[in-house]
Amino acid sequence: MAHNPQWEMPLTHLTNGGAGYVQGIERLGIPPLIISDAAYGVRDSGANGRYATAMPSNLGAASAWDSETACEYGEVIGRELRAQGFNMTLGGGINLTREPRNGRTFEYAGEDPLLAGTVVGNLMRCEQAQHVVGDIKHYVMNDQETGRFVVNAIISKPAMQESDLLAFHIAIGIANPGAVMCSYNRINDDFGCQNPYTLTDVLKTDWGFNGFVISDWAATHSTAKASAAGLDQEQPMADYFGPKLKEAVQAGEVPLSQIDDHARRVLYAEFLSGVVDDPPQKSVVDAGKGLEVAQRVEEKSIVLLKNNQAALPIDPSKVHSIAIIGGHADVGMISGGGSAQVDPPGGNAIMLPGKGATHWQDHIWFPTSPLKALRAKLPSTNIDFNSGADSRTAVNLAKSSDLAIVFAYQWLAEDMDLPSLSLPNNQDALIEQVAAANPRTIVVLESGTAVTMPWIDKVAGVVEVWYAGSAGHKALANILAGDVNPSGKLAITFPKSDKDLPRPVIPALPPEDQGLATGNSATHISSYTVRYDEGPEVGYKWYEAHHKQPLFAFGFGLSYTSYAYSGLGVDSAARTVSFTVKNTGQRAGTEIAQVYAKLPKGAGESYKRLAGWKRVTLAPGESQTVSVAIDPRVIQTFNEANNSWRLVPGEYSVFVGASSDNTPLTGNLQVR
Ligand code: BGC
Repeated sequence: MAHNPQWEMPLTHLTNGGAGYVQGIERLGIPPLIISDAAYGVRDSGANGRYATAMPSNLGAASAWDSETACEYGEVIGRELRAQGFNMTLGGGINLTREPRNGRTFEYAGEDPLLAGTVVGNLMRCEQAQHVVGDIKHYVMNDQETGRFVVNAIISKPAMQESDLLAFHIAIGIANPGAVMCSYNRINDDFGCQNPYTLTDVLKTDWGFNGFVISDWAATHSTAKASAAGLDQEQPMADYFGPKLKEAVQAGEVPLSQIDDHARRVLYAEFLSGVVDDPPQKSVVDAGKGLEVAQRVEEKSIVLLKNNQAALPIDPSKVHSIAIIGGHADVGMISGGGSAQVDPPGGNAIMLPGKGATHWQDHIWFPTSPLKALRAKLPSTNIDFNSGADSRTAVNLAKSSDLAIVFAYQWLAEDMDLPSLSLPNNQDALIEQVAAANPRTIVVLESGTAVTMPWIDKVAGVVEVWYAGSAGHKALANILAGDVNPSGKLAITFPKSDKDLPRPVIPALPPEDQGLATGNSATHISSYTVRYDEGPEVGYKWYEAHHKQPLFAFGFGLSYTSYAYSGLGVDSAARTVSFTVKNTGQRAGTEIAQVYAKLPKGAGESYKRLAGWKRVTLAPGESQTVSVAIDPRVIQTFNEANNSWRLVPGEYSVFVGASSDNTPLTGNLQVR
């Protein structure tokens, strides 16, 4: 949350500058919880005179489709939390991208439950292994920021189980986090932090979660009801779980057994994560290690979306001059805001006139200049910069250069949604003009979510770098120059237009709910509702079911080489598929080969589901036969009447290929 003066906690001097603090019991050797936000790095280091690595945005890292990459990402954050004296993280965002205009999309891992669950699960597993209490958030259906304190998310139980809940279940299963953060919004009428269905029936009973449920900041709305529903810890104040909880126990409204359970769960998390046996010791953050990992992760996260006539990689024997235009690319690269914000070394690289200390909703650039990185990479090429502020001079520079690279950005943050997916600040017009002047125009996108591209047919190439983190400029230079072959694939669909989304416009917030600083009123129940009638058809499933062609499909991403798929075999008994991937081009590369399955006709589903994938690294001309297990959790259906999962018997279609809309291999899987 923002530093809300209303929330000046009584023990703030002990918090180490973090978002939350829970007193320990020294006499019993129970350590305090010293809690910091840490979505893509440790938050707020600047205010404490400290340094933290910014990893690429979480959505970026999801584009690597890689458990090991996610693990390294989590390790860096875990280590840096401890070095800064924290023993609990508030990272682990996994809300599915149902609403790509959601201002927090960059903090999450995309639109598919298996991919998001695997990435966030491994990230948090390895973060917690550094001996910090892990967290997965925001549980659940917190899929847009508009009206986040009050919105009532309406969705059927089967749909929620097969989409958003499934993502949490998979992640929690892998990470076994100490904590799960319940969300601000309501879910089918009950607030996230007093919802007996999601907290007790699903999380604690069906999934057997033994850690504690921590409220989002001021997301607690009641005492007895929240305690009974499964909330274990209120943050950051003690409005409902302080004196009022004691009174409720004394009045017999809250049984002591509930208090014992809440306390036991916090203790379980502390012992599980190792913060009791191995408390953090402040030390100097290993900046070099962080930068190395951040660069490697970004190199796997960058998605090459278009590359006509091999415009990339840049060949210095042919390209003697490059125009770099826009996006403050002379100075740095933009980052995601809100409580996820990591502070850049030296402060905001774009010093706005009259701006001193940063605010959690400022546009913050890291001092990671792509211009400098590219000049260092291509010393014999003449590389000039134009800010794009005056399109006439930008066009002139583009005209006189062999190659033009326009840097475009789209900024996101918590507590806001985008009005649309189109680029802000007339950047579309700048791209159009530059592309008209030089057909060899590449667009580099620094974005937190999908972007619409009215100019797509006019440019030679598009490179999606997300929010690229502390070493993003170096990773990008390696990709542009061809030292690294791009391998990332989209974890979200890029639609052609907002009109193609399940909700072309995010429903407006009623005037009485606008400007609410927090949501934890016990009495205010808003009429603001979002109906997720698309149910489990999130992302690519929606586009397929509704015959809408996206701009770039889920799973899509190009490389500087090419791959061919052949020889599909399906082993129905073992529920595995095998196939051969061949590198048919001239460069070594890594292909993310994807397996999808479609339920038998009787199930009435008109979309396929991601069922598994494999990263395959191949030298030029090399082939490899790989086998991928179909994850049974993602092809089951949920039956509300008996609260159970079922693998529908019959013939499943299996699709294998390079993306959700390009699956050259098809076969059948029999389930008895
Ligand atoms: C955000 C959480 C964050 C918390 C503490 C809330 O506003 O939704 O993601 O962890 O603040 O800063």
